[in-house]
Amino acid sequence: MKRTIVAIACAIGCFCVGNAHNVNSQLPQKREKKEVKVGDSETKFVHELMQKMTLTEKIGQLSQYVGGTLLTGPQSGALSDSLFIRGMVGSILNVGGVDNLRKLQEKNMQLSRLKIPILFAFDVIHGYKTIFPTPLAESCTWDLDFMYETSKAAAIEASASGIHWTFAPMVDIARDPRWGRIVEGAGEDTYLACKIAEARVRGFQWNLGKPNSVYACAKHFVAYGAPQAGRDYAPVDISMSTLAEVYLPPFKACVDAGVKTFMSAFNSLNGVPATGNRWLMTNLLRNQWKFQGFVVSDWNAVQELKDHGVAATDEEASLLAFNAGVDMNMTDGLYNRCLEKALREGRVDIKAIDASVERILRAKYALGLFEDPYRFFDSKRERTEVRSNSAMTLARKVAASSMVLLKNSQSTLPLSKHTNRIALIGPLVNNRSEVMGSWKARGEDKDVVTVLEGIKNKLGSAVAINYVQGCDFLDPSTQEFSKAFEAAKQSDVVIAVVGEKALMSGESRSRAVLRLPGQQEALLDTLQKAGKPLVVVLMNGRPLCLEKVDKQADALLEAWFPGTQCGNAVADILFGDAVPAGKLTTSFPLSEGQIPNYYNYKRSGRPGDMPHSSTVRHIDVPNRNLYPFGYGLSYTKFSYGEIQCANEFNVDGTLQISVDVTNTGGYDGEEIVQLYVADKHASMVRPVKELKGFKKVFIPKGETVRVDFTLNARDLGFWNNEMQYVVEPGIFEIMVGSSSEDLQKKEAIWKGDK
Ligand code: NOJ
Repeated sequence: MKRTIVAIACAIGCFCVGNAHNVNSQLPQKREKKEVKVGDSETKFVHELMQKMTLTEKIGQLSQYVGGTLLTGPQSGALSDSLFIRGMVGSILNVGGVDNLRKLQEKNMQLSRLKIPILFAFDVIHGYKTIFPTPLAESCTWDLDFMYETSKAAAIEASASGIHWTFAPMVDIARDPRWGRIVEGAGEDTYLACKIAEARVRGFQWNLGKPNSVYACAKHFVAYGAPQAGRDYAPVDISMSTLAEVYLPPFKACVDAGVKTFMSAFNSLNGVPATGNRWLMTNLLRNQWKFQGFVVSDWNAVQELKDHGVAATDEEASLLAFNAGVDMNMTDGLYNRCLEKALREGRVDIKAIDASVERILRAKYALGLFEDPYRFFDSKRERTEVRSNSAMTLARKVAASSMVLLKNSQSTLPLSKHTNRIALIGPLVNNRSEVMGSWKARGEDKDVVTVLEGIKNKLGSAVAINYVQGCDFLDPSTQEFSKAFEAAKQSDVVIAVVGEKALMSGESRSRAVLRLPGQQEALLDTLQKAGKPLVVVLMNGRPLCLEKVDKQADALLEAWFPGTQCGNAVADILFGDAVPAGKLTTSFPLSEGQIPNYYNYKRSGRPGDMPHSSTVRHIDVPNRNLYPFGYGLSYTKFSYGEIQCANEFNVDGTLQISVDVTNTGGYDGEEIVQLYVADKHASMVRPVKELKGFKKVFIPKGETVRVDFTLNARDLGFWNNEMQYVVEPGIFEIMVGSSSEDLQKKEAIWKGDK
């Protein structure tokens, strides 16, 4: 064991996440970043306004209501004219469209005494009208420029449609594919998730203060992605070290990127519901991370403190949440109903109320809403900037880049554009709605390009396409199997497009069985019997257990839910106009019993996977994933030269690492070169490996590119259970390669500061 702890950075007080050093950021640092300065005029305006406000009006600013019929949670407090008249509406969610929002703002301006503009929020998670691939899908591009660009494009569309604020990005680490909301995040790795969180925040807030960008919201604070058994909303019990090391860093990355709002999580964390957790929201987020924006609760989460059993009454629940640091109360109306009385009874401090109100008024001021409450309502912009050609082009490119080629035996893919007859089978071939995935905002079926259309667009009429649905998702009927079999037999190649329905993942959509639902595996069996090359295209929101499908398919493409440009992007990949480059950001297990089975698990006393010996293993399933984190094939091949690095870190704590990567195949292509590190001996048990850098590089066929990384030993520390960041000298394994399981290793020693 290393005896010297060379740097106890500090307690959580200066939670300086190891990832904060920009090891290999692909994100251009000089972005269009125009933050509105908190000037004297803002302070003066807000303070003067607050002097005019009654207590009721102040608490009203802390209250958010659903503005229409779209419910993204259970029944909640209803919006009424009386609330507007009494100045009790600070924000409205779930309404989009300039005309609709203008009406609501007008009503507020007419009815309320002080005419404080409403802040409008919407879940713009992966696009607004132009739907991009789901966040999990997009994470498989490992392309931070794409994340920035799609978030920016979504912000432009949403703001052109009157929205001020999105509830995104979701930055919850998810290591359990049973949890349906894995689809909304960036996967299982914290390092990658931090980079993506930063890119998405900067993208949404790209031009803050101008009516073409929106406030981002880091959610769900915190550890929502680790519920027991993967059941949404279930309690979370994890060590403080795991909390600090795995779940907190993406939130810290959002603060560092300037995120303006946070959302508290539904779950309890080690026995304390996040929405009533003062340590989390006040000590950590506000006092130590110095977060300047405001915190909104999740939907009815304040009221749900009663169901958690930590509050007996509405009043207790609202006090618990408010005193913990939740500035704004989403949907249940409890602040409006309870805080005034609590204040009169001396159970809440007026200074705290004023501080929360000030944060929200400042947010409104910074958007220019006091100058012009209708600033975001420009019908001409809405007509021209929503669903623009540039957004569609981006959606197609990103969707193709998100796809991960899992298998390609005998180079089945790409298919020739001159194939005579193609059978297209499966419930997702001709589907518009499901392929957008969960949280499709205001995405419309009519704008979606189906796989059938995409392939027809690509091949024209010269190729005969025989489409049969074959089966549904859950319907047990196999009636169409014989028709599907005949179509397959009469074709040169079979493309099966199968997977989950959109709402089999997402909020409250946990699954315990992760195989293809319904009769789809049986359909693939039938197709296989036709004896033609079988290409399986998967669309799903989470990693599935694909052992059987892997055996059935000659080629297997994980297309996720690609969004509006679905069919065009699938066709681009299948017919070689785009070369697959995506790599998994979540491990795909062999079976559900292995879950959680993430790549960066901690070491143990009896490692290995040796039959008949005492090792950490199941007796019935090997200790491996079917497809590991970081895995993904291309149409071309890459070969890696030897890792070049010294066997000792430099005195300044840095280590330069390089590797030559050669494209030895027949296509130009992109490779995601990954750098992992393992701490060989430490004062605490460390993961077997951890991602510490990556680079996505384009390499023309036949050429070699040198890829360089710089590691800093100070980024190789860890968080202990006292929540101290410790950096220890010693030997580190340096691993470089094409996936978490395909790596070459070298060792380098860091002797610590002299
Ligand atoms: C509940 C979800 O947990 C959250 O992510 C979402 O933003 C809100 N509902 C509002 O729809």
